[in-house]
Amino acid sequence: MKRDVLTMTDLSVEEVRELLRAAGECKRRRAVGRKALDRNIVALVFQKPSMRTRVAFEVAVLQLGGSVVYLGQEDIQLGQREPIRDVARVLSAYVNGIVIRTFAHRDAEEFAAYARVPVVNGLSDLMHPCQALADLLTIKEQFGRFKGITLSYIGDGNNVLHSLVEGCAMLGVDAVVATPPRYRPDRAVWEGALRLAKRHGASLRWERDPRVAVRGADVVYTDVWVSMGKEAERRQRLKTFRRYQLNETLLRHAKPGCRVMHCLPAHRGEEITDGVMESGRSLVFEQAENRLHVHKALLLMLLARKK
Ligand code: CP
Ligand code: NVA
Repeated sequence: MKRDVLTMTDLSVEEVRELLRAAGECKRRRAVGRKALDRNIVALVFQKPSMRTRVAFEVAVLQLGGSVVYLGQEDIQLGQREPIRDVARVLSAYVNGIVIRTFAHRDAEEFAAYARVPVVNGLSDLMHPCQALADLLTIKEQFGRFKGITLSYIGDGNNVLHSLVEGCAMLGVDAVVATPPRYRPDRAVWEGALRLAKRHGASLRWERDPRVAVRGADVVYTDVWVSMGKEAERRQRLKTFRRYQLNETLLRHAKPGCRVMHCLPAHRGEEITDGVMESGRSLVFEQAENRLHVHKALLLMLLARKK
């Protein structure tokens, strides 16, 4: 049966661990799976712009011996020119796998429900599981473990945070989240992550004050204050999030050697300072590189094994 990965919880803890192991192997040996996607075609159906997700998936497919078709919003006009379920069924006859980037998460779910080939979420308004997988690989590389690591996230309770708290909870990373009260994470996602954290012996809590949230942090993570699709709220958001900037002063409250993460693209001077981005604490380019390796591992898991 075909498998979709729209959220971290579409994977079991064992599968996440295995994916990270396989991604590490892909990173060490570029030739891993060189022909695994021979004669496979993967479509990228993107409603929003992308650099990392698009390029890292395209390169991953090519390095595994497959081919890619990129379909941007202008090409398909998903849900406008014709219904999502029709696009999903037609594309399934042409390609072997699909990566989709949507606004509404339910659009990705509808697409996956009608597609007959595996569908991967390359970001929706609710989730960004491919990013969380790369972030977990980066944490593992840095610290050699998940248990006993504390990650603090400062900023917007958004898609990147949702997948990150799910991933941390699954692997036992303790997480503290500071957002303005109005921008707390989605309630259902948060409650699910709390249950996962309990099951896997991790802690997860919300704080209003970013200085309290970063106390004892091994890693401090942030993301943009204005996600794609939220541009109309920009002025209000910049005002509300001002106290939540990841800067040198805030980092004085974290562990002395703490590292800094950001999924990119970053808006220097908004959610993070240029100094912090460029400092030796920053892991942002490791995270970005790891997107390629986790995409390869994911494609191998979803497309290559059934052969
Ligand atoms: N981090 C990330 O998903 O970047 P893109 O939007 O450039 O794909
Ligand atoms: N939260 C951001 C992530 C971009 C990779 C957005 O959705 O625009």
